[in-house]
Amino acid sequence: MKVTVFGVGYVGLVQAAALAEVGHHVVCVDIDSDKIERLRQGQIPIYEPGLSALVIDNHAAGRLEFTDQPEYGVCHGDIQFIAVGTPPDENGAADVTHVLTVARTIGSFIDRDLVVVNKSTVPVGTADAVRAEIDQALSERKRDLVFTVVSNPEFLKEGSAVADCMKPDRIIIGTDSKYAEELMRELYAPFNRNREKIMIMDVRSAELTKYAANCMLATKISFMNEIANLAEHLGANVEAVRLGIGSDPRIGYHFIYPGVGYGGSCFPKDVKALINTAHQVGFEPEVLKAVEVRNTRQKTTLFEKIVSHYGDNLQGKTFALWGLAFKPNTDDMREAPSRVLIEALWRAGARVQAYDPEAMEEAQRLYGQRDDFRLCGTKESALQGADALVVVTEWQAFRAPDFALLQRELADNVIFDGRNVYDPERLKARRFNYYSVGRGAVL
Ligand code: UGA
Repeated sequence: MKVTVFGVGYVGLVQAAALAEVGHHVVCVDIDSDKIERLRQGQIPIYEPGLSALVIDNHAAGRLEFTDQPEYGVCHGDIQFIAVGTPPDENGAADVTHVLTVARTIGSFIDRDLVVVNKSTVPVGTADAVRAEIDQALSERKRDLVFTVVSNPEFLKEGSAVADCMKPDRIIIGTDSKYAEELMRELYAPFNRNREKIMIMDVRSAELTKYAANCMLATKISFMNEIANLAEHLGANVEAVRLGIGSDPRIGYHFIYPGVGYGGSCFPKDVKALINTAHQVGFEPEVLKAVEVRNTRQKTTLFEKIVSHYGDNLQGKTFALWGLAFKPNTDDMREAPSRVLIEALWRAGARVQAYDPEAMEEAQRLYGQRDDFRLCGTKESALQGADALVVVTEWQAFRAPDFALLQRELADNVIFDGRNVYDPERLKARRFNYYSVGRGAVL
């Protein structure tokens, strides 16, 4: 099938490559000409396992094209995906300007009946706005064509985006058009084997499903962070509690790891956006507001532990920081808890020596050259001359460090672990002062 994807960000690029991989002919359109040129040369703008090979191979095979010419894109696809960003505006609402601009572009060049698919995470009701935008452009051109706007939200996770896209656990299609449903079924047939994964529903329900999924996951995390903090006050061990409740299949083991709060480009933005949507219709989303408050607070938990150990003047102290990305297997530092911590450490007068397996360039871009910040080439070199270690992201490479080396390098023999990756008993035996989340009593 002929498919066009507007926006070669995370979602657009991965989806386009996955569709090309199963044999569809995909044209990607983006207004960023530099990015398009780099993609043509096989340079992938994001770090995502498996993506590079998928893009390069399919581009070489002619199934995946890149262009900055929207007219070429609109004329190509029988299905037109909109996968551009929806960043939060100053009120936390998702800004759909880019989505509507693409809709306008489609309306300006459309020359036959086609299906427009919203892949971007957009507030409920956006499909109607997209339809209105295309209608407007068509009426300005005095053209009368049949088109349908479908909602088909994406559920991929950074770090496993390719696998999530190639083997989705569900494919949500919001439409009331039989024609669009059939076309979407044909498009996704290669991904819909073994069992039926396609769920057809009305457009608004599909739009809300995306937000509900992310907000439910964010709720699980904030709830667990709350229990972890409470466990510290009660002298309980949250890891035991986690296993105890996860064994109930109604709760499950996923997304109940306590830590330093959720980050990334999705959860923080989507929780805020759904709160905003609720307010717009005069509804008070009590649970969502609490999820957001807990998460903001949780991002300061490591700093609070550092201050309770050292006091609030950290002048002259140097902290080795392992993990900058908001989670492992990505170079993404958007809304990363590491940023909240680093900035708080600086304000208190401390120096930071950081290492991350993938996010070093991003950290350099964000913070540049500073006297109180050093990006180190290895996790070991980040320890040199440091007083304490802080683990912020649970990369596999941090799970089994050389503890003898840590003992030699860390002047104060202190470890602050924001992800509960180490065994408190072992560290106690090695005479470390060890702080983790929800496992050390503050009785
Ligand atoms: C999330 C969803 O998981 C995807 O299904 C969704 O498609 C995507 O957002 C999106 O809307 O595009 P992602 O942001 O890549 O994916 O990250 P997650 O793996 O969900 O992790 C989010 C945050 O939660 C991370 O900061 C992680 O450290 C934190 N987390 C996760 C916890 O603190 N505890 C947990 O138990 C799990």
